[in-house]
Amino acid sequence: MPRGDKEGYARQTLENFRLFGAPHVAILTSDPGLGPYGAVDVGGYVQVLLLAMQAHGLAAIAQAAPANYSALVKHELEIPQERLMVCGVSFGYEDTEHPANSYRTSRAQLAQAVRFVDA
Ligand SMILES: Cc1cc2nc3c(=O)[nH]c(=O)nc-3n(C[C@H](O)[C@H](O)[C@H](O)COP(=O)(O)O)c2cc1C
Repeated sequence: MPRGDKEGYARQTLENFRLFGAPHVAILTSDPGLGPYGAVDVGGYVQVLLLAMQAHGLAAIAQAAPANYSALVKHELEIPQERLMVCGVSFGYEDTEHPANSYRTSRAQLAQAVRFVDA
């Protein structure tokens, strides 16, 4: 997709709502009584889930976008409305022919992400 292709970006954003073509999605929720730490725990769980899926040859994408429609998702999947939906993880076997799947994101350098302070 060329840089600045607004229509292309919009189309790709909409892919969130067809789970990027994945056949399955796990919905991760937390007990709102746990406050922000419940969501932090879910974050750790997501990381391990993604690594476990990768280790088993599955492709997966964490998705916060469906949480914007959490009431609908919870209704459809019979998840109690009081649960806090943190995100989804869509997964399946990778379509290696799809151009989007050859895209690789870059990683920030350590110094850009961490500030070391001498005590
Ligand atoms: C909690 C969480 C939520 C995310 N939500 C979305 C999302 O809604 N839509 C999306 O396109 N990418 C989302 N991402 C980013 C993709 O999961 C990620 O960039 C993609 O899988 C590429 O992985 P990579 O950066 O390791 O290459 C999210 C990531 C995390 C950790």
